[in-house]
Amino acid sequence: MKKIDIRTSATIFDSVSELSSEEQNLMTNAIEARKKAYAPYSKFKVGAALLLDNGEIILGNNQESAAYPSGMCAERVAIWKAGSDYPNMKVKKIAITAASTENLVNKPVGPCGACRQTLSEYEINQKEPIEIIFMGEIGQIVKTESLLSLLPFSFDSSYL
Ligand code: THU
Repeated sequence: MKKIDIRTSATIFDSVSELSSEEQNLMTNAIEARKKAYAPYSKFKVGAALLLDNGEIILGNNQESAAYPSGMCAERVAIWKAGSDYPNMKVKKIAITAASTENLVNKPVGPCGACRQTLSEYEINQKEPIEIIFMGEIGQIVKTESLLSLLPFSFDSSYL
């Protein structure tokens, strides 16, 4: 028996202005996408902006449903949009932001577990890491160098 430590690392930024201009632009796009989210039930709007390796930016936001489980997260809306429109394109990075009309979201909002699983499929297939950059409405920004760094012991097609 042995105990192992799983380590991950992230960079914390105190302000969007500390990001590269490419990433600032991506986050600005995520904010614009967030504003268009359809979240009448949770009042929690999320926006995601994906940068493809051809330079194109793909946007997504959460889309809710009166039948609650039928709604979908911003990240999966965006990655599936990219996957269906640009099946062979690599995703370089994703910016994510969340805001609520109920309270101020002042801490970074990472992608949910199901979104991490979904995104991992694309990172594994493209054999290049996808940088994940996430924030709330205000406050610090977290950047990780890959999706899999957020998903230790993950499930993938090698088990099938
Ligand atoms: N949501 C996202 O869009 N992304 C996440 O990673 C977490 C949650 C959405 C789903 C739902 O519309 C609302 O936020 C509240 O859970």
